[in-house]
Amino acid sequence: MERLVYIKTFGCQMNEHDSERMLALLKGCGYRETQRYEEAHLILVNTCSVRAKPEQKAYSILGRFQRFKMERPNVILGVAGCVAQQEGERMLAKFPSLDFVFGPGKIHHLPEILREVERGQKGLCEVGLEDRPSTDVPLPRTRQLRAYVTIMEGCDNFCSYCIIPYVRGRERSCPSSEILAEIEALVERGTKEVILLGQNVNSYAEGDSDELTFPRLLAKINEIQGLERIRFTTSHPKDLTEELIGAFGRLNRLCEHIHLPFQAGSNVVLEKMGRGYTREEYLAEVRRLREVVPCISITADVMVGFPGEGGEDFAQTMGLLREVEFDGLFSFKYSARKGTKAARWKDDVPPEVKQRRLELLQELQRAITIKKNRELEGEVLEVLTEGSSRNSSQEMMGRARCNRIVNFPGGSKLAGELVRVKIEEGLPNSLRGELF
Ligand code: SAH
Ligand code: SF4
Ligand code: F3S
Repeated sequence: MERLVYIKTFGCQMNEHDSERMLALLKGCGYRETQRYEEAHLILVNTCSVRAKPEQKAYSILGRFQRFKMERPNVILGVAGCVAQQEGERMLAKFPSLDFVFGPGKIHHLPEILREVERGQKGLCEVGLEDRPSTDVPLPRTRQLRAYVTIMEGCDNFCSYCIIPYVRGRERSCPSSEILAEIEALVERGTKEVILLGQNVNSYAEGDSDELTFPRLLAKINEIQGLERIRFTTSHPKDLTEELIGAFGRLNRLCEHIHLPFQAGSNVVLEKMGRGYTREEYLAEVRRLREVVPCISITADVMVGFPGEGGEDFAQTMGLLREVEFDGLFSFKYSARKGTKAARWKDDVPPEVKQRRLELLQELQRAITIKKNRELEGEVLEVLTEGSSRNSSQEMMGRARCNRIVNFPGGSKLAGELVRVKIEEGLPNSLRGELF
């Protein structure tokens, strides 16, 4: 009998990709995905602990599924991801009806864990991070137009606010031969765009003189016949080398977009965050990127309300936004994460001040994003068509090389195709145009 799995994912693209890997493994065990948890035989919650908000959301949804399981005791309930890794057995104490808890390093054990549960085992807990990347285990994949490829896991940076090095462990890079083989196999099955994933991709294979550097890996991937586009995320400003900046000018398949989180505009705050660069160094990188590729799209992450952030520090963050004019920005309120260095400092920016700063920042960025989107009106952009637009069945949706969403009238036979679209309207979150 076919069994159904419902999976809810929180957090970053690494977590989204982990969920895809879980689904691929479950497919091999006879499961099919459903979007309705009410009909699922197996419910998985893939959690994130990077900030208080996603963590709370995961707890609240787990509470709901625990109540659901009281009515339907045969439903299997499992929790994965970074909260699972962090809490381990404590998760089982908080949610006694959980069947299993497993961390991001144990994804390939999922079929085994399920077999144990089906044999009647209760409260299984598998956390712990392996030395080698867990992606070493090849997984079956379905055809994907845009595919994530993990190139490294973990992080060694220990930014003072960040939980990721604790929940994802030390930096481990995947062998380039395996990365290239995986991409070749994906391309054979129809993939046109790859998104290389890692918490800090530009320190790929750092310290390993026998391995390719990140820019060289990109150059090799660029040679793969049939692949149209390459993206990567996330890059750290302290490891952005001249060689990598140059790659944007040299490699025709590398999309003109970089996600380069800056976190704060004030040097005092950056220093306390342990980011390893100054405001001036960050701005110099932006200038250099734009010298090499004038149209490059730059997006970033930033946070407000870090311990000790005063009005002047915040003004510097606002000033940096105005100076750079990011194409897009993810902004967050700082929340203390247990076990990190910053959690020992007083969380002294009052919640209402954090909220106000976030609103000011988002208001400014909204105006910048619209302005930049409008500047594209009249331009012809290359768009990789993904499928029907969310708003209308007469319209198709795709992404430009700069990563903006583009909607345009067209039929479903364009799905998967690269087309040229003349932009007619720049909107707050997307562009509209006509086939050119
Ligand atoms: N590896 C990426 C970050 C991944 S986490 C990098 O170094 O850029 C995604 C974003 O969450 C971070 O860029 C940061 O802006 C935010 N973040 C991380 N920890 C946080 C915390 N304790 N409070 C608020 N935001 C946080
Ligand atoms: Fe966290 Fe810093 Fe590592 Fe990014 S680079 S994952 S923010 S510790
Ligand atoms: Fe969250 Fe873990 Fe990603 S903490 S941001 S899901 S690495």
